[in-house]
Amino acid sequence: MNVAFIGHGYVGLVTAAVFAEVGNTVWVVGRTKEKIDKLNAGIAPFYEPGLAEMLKRNVDAGRLKFTVDYKEAVEPSKIIFICVGTPTTPSTGEADLTQVFASATEIGKHLDGYKVVSVKSTVPPGTNKKVGEILGRVKKESATFGLASVPEFLREGSALSDTLHPDRYVIGTETNEARDLVLEVHKSIDGKAVTCNIETAELIKYASNAMLATKISFGNAIAILSEKVGADVEKVLEGVGLDRRIGRNFLYPGVGYGGSCFPKDVKALIAIAKQFGYDFELLRAVETINKSMRSLFVEKVKQQVGDTKGKTIALLGVAFKPDTDDMREAPSIDIAKQLLALGMHVVAYDPIAMEVAASVMSSEVVFAKTAIQAATNADVIAIITEWKEFRELDLEALGKVMKNKIIIDGRNMFDPEKVQSAGFTYVGMGRG
Ligand code: UDX
Repeated sequence: MNVAFIGHGYVGLVTAAVFAEVGNTVWVVGRTKEKIDKLNAGIAPFYEPGLAEMLKRNVDAGRLKFTVDYKEAVEPSKIIFICVGTPTTPSTGEADLTQVFASATEIGKHLDGYKVVSVKSTVPPGTNKKVGEILGRVKKESATFGLASVPEFLREGSALSDTLHPDRYVIGTETNEARDLVLEVHKSIDGKAVTCNIETAELIKYASNAMLATKISFGNAIAILSEKVGADVEKVLEGVGLDRRIGRNFLYPGVGYGGSCFPKDVKALIAIAKQFGYDFELLRAVETINKSMRSLFVEKVKQQVGDTKGKTIALLGVAFKPDTDDMREAPSIDIAKQLLALGMHVVAYDPIAMEVAASVMSSEVVFAKTAIQAATNADVIAIITEWKEFRELDLEALGKVMKNKIIIDGRNMFDPEKVQSAGFTYVGMGRG
């Protein structure tokens, strides 16, 4: 099938590449000619495991084409997926839908015959209908269209396999004609199809991300309590998670969640609820707990080093999670800021994200080429992101170059006994 994607961020580009990989002919619309030229040369604009290869393969095969021209993409396509950003409006926490509506206007101008227009961006209930109103206003009289809300659930770092083999995909439509067309383009995608009305699909996305964020904050709250009562949170949550009704996924405590989705979507759902007269207290607490984990981490640094002025801390990992160079809402940004305010020297190392990090973190943060270089002369090591390569760190070698052998493990990635037997002081999150 011929399909078009508007936007080439994480969602747009990954989904477009996967849909091309399974045999569709795919156009992707962007705004910047320079970026589009690079994409047409098969160059990925961000790091995602396997994406560069998939992109190149499908561009070379002529199944994946990038353009700045809506007409070129929309006219031949049966389905047009809108995958543009919906950032937080700072004053209200609401999703800013400017880009969604602007792309609907452009799509509408080129509708012809019957096409389905589907919003993949995370948008509040009611948005797809507003997109429909815009399309209806700008389209030529003979054109007809169906609407579909098809939210995206991919995770960065495992985006390709999440898109090809999701647990489920959700298709919200008003008509069987639109539903069947969207089902057809998903025929090579694994997972259970959940078909429903548009508002239901729109809410499923927010509810899913809010539930996952709630699990994380619950795990973090139990970590805080574990420390106070002398329990080990990892064992507590293992014991809890073995109950199949609960499960262990997304119950990993640490410095809190970041990234492009959870912080934004939790805020947006609180704002949506407020608009409908419901105070979503639970989610407000989820946010509060999440923020508090960063300060709690900094408190642990203070407890370990005493007078922080002039002391050096090695931050290992700055990306918001492993296997990505994404720094959006990364806890490391806030933590580094708080540490610098305490007069500490902050030296950071990340296997992939340093280039992006340098543009968003305080200019006082110094970047090292390796973990061992970051740890040289450091008073304390702080693990902020649980990159796999940190698991294989040579603790003996680290200990030799450090001033003081202290590890504060913000992701509970190490076995405390192993670290302690290498002569380090080990501090985790909730490991009383
Ligand atoms: C998330 C959702 O998982 C995905 O379905 C949605 O489409 C987009 O948002 P992503 O932001 O890529 O995906 O990463 P995810 O793996 O969910 O992690 C988000 C944040 O939560 C990271 O900062 C991670 O470190 C943190 N996290 C996750 C925890 O602190 N503990 C956990 O147990 C799990």
